[in-house]
Order: sequence, then C-alpha cells, then structure tokens
Amino acid sequence: MPNVLAISGSLRAASSATAVMEALIGLIGDRATVSRADIGAVPHYNADHDGGPGAKAFIAAVSAAQGVLIVTPEYNYSIPGVLKNAIDWASRPGYNSVFKGKPVFLVTTSAGALGGVRAQAAVKQVMTAMLADVHQCPEVVVPQAVAKTIEGRFADQATLDFAAPHLAAWLARLG
Ligand SMILES: Cc1cc2nc3c(=O)[nH]c(=O)nc-3n(C[C@H](O)[C@H](O)[C@H](O)COP(=O)(O)O)c2cc1C
Repeated sequence: MPNVLAISGSLRAASSATAVMEALIGLIGDRATVSRADIGAVPHYNADHDGGPGAKAFIAAVSAAQGVLIVTPEYNYSIPGVLKNAIDWASRPGYNSVFKGKPVFLVTTSAGALGGVRAQAAVKQVMTAMLADVHQCPEVVVPQAVAKTIEGRFADQATLDFAAPHLAAWLARLG
C-alpha cells in the first residue's frame, strides 16, 4: 500500500482546491494511505535556519511518500507563495532533495474559466528544477472550481471522471 502525500495550495478554510483534493482522495480510496500536508505551518524559507517543526514535518512527509498529489489554485498566473515556500524548503540539497525522482500528480484549479492552466506550467517548471517525476497525462485543470464546490464538497462528476483513469495509472506506478 503506497503512501501518498496530498498538498493543497490554498490555506482558505472553504478552498475549492482543497475540496478537489478531498474528492481525489475519495477516488484513491483504499489504493493508498493518504496523509495531508500542513503547508501553513511551514515558516518563510531562510537558509540561515533549519525550518523548525513545520518545515521538518513537511520535508519528512515528502520523503516518506511514494507519491505526492498537488492540487493548487493559480495565483497571478503562477504558484501560490505558500506552496512555493514549502516546496523550496523540501528542495534542498539542490538536485538531490526528497523530491528527486518523486512521482507527482498535479491538478490545478481556478474560480475562472482557465482552470489554472498557467499554474500547471509554473509548477511543472519547479518540479523539473527538483528532478521530480510529474505524471505525464492530459492536464487536469478545474475551471469554475468555486462554483463547482457546494457546501464544501467538490460536486463536478465530469471532472472526476476525467481525472480518474489518469490518477489510477499514476497510483499503479507507485507500487
Ligand atoms: C492572490 C490571488 C491571485 C489570483 N490569481 C488568479 C490567476 O492568476 N488566475 C485565476 O484563474 N484565478 C486567480 N485567482 C482567483 C482564484 O482562482 C480564486 O480565488 C480561487 O477561489 C482560489 O482557490 P481556493 O478556492 O482553493 O482558495 C487569484 C486569487 C488570489 C487570492
């Protein structure tokens, strides 16, 4: 049973990205043991410090995971700072971090019509810098994610039906 670390790029309590992440965790079901990263507990990156318990827990969670599921909104055409900050902590030592070779399944969301497609490219660039292994499949983007989140639950079955076979293929690779 592989360990999957799920990361939402939004800290907002009513986050649509987190709702999508929870729906995908539901799809994973009993095919993996899933834990959720607390990137809000990770301090600002500072190479003069060791990051304390928040950064250490995040790095350990990435290390322990056979796969990392990232669901993030797009902020200003890119990665939310809180997510980039956590990733930066886990990116050292360069080219030999806990992300090296790590299978990653990426989903982006937005309140608007584009589903965070520009953030797809931004996250992939960062993952490439760390030599992470982003699952290659048609991009899973979720437009109008806020409207599709009803009472805290992501409610768009068509999105889940699209993502399901790609997620299954990724899970099968985790062993
Ligand atoms: C700082 C900030 C920047 C944003 N930039 C974008 C953007 O570049 N593209 C986009 O489609 N939506 C953008 N949005 C709107 C988000 O898609 C929307 O706020 C969404 O609900 C955030 O995800 P969440 O529901 O998971 O918190 C931005 C929102 C914030 C707060």
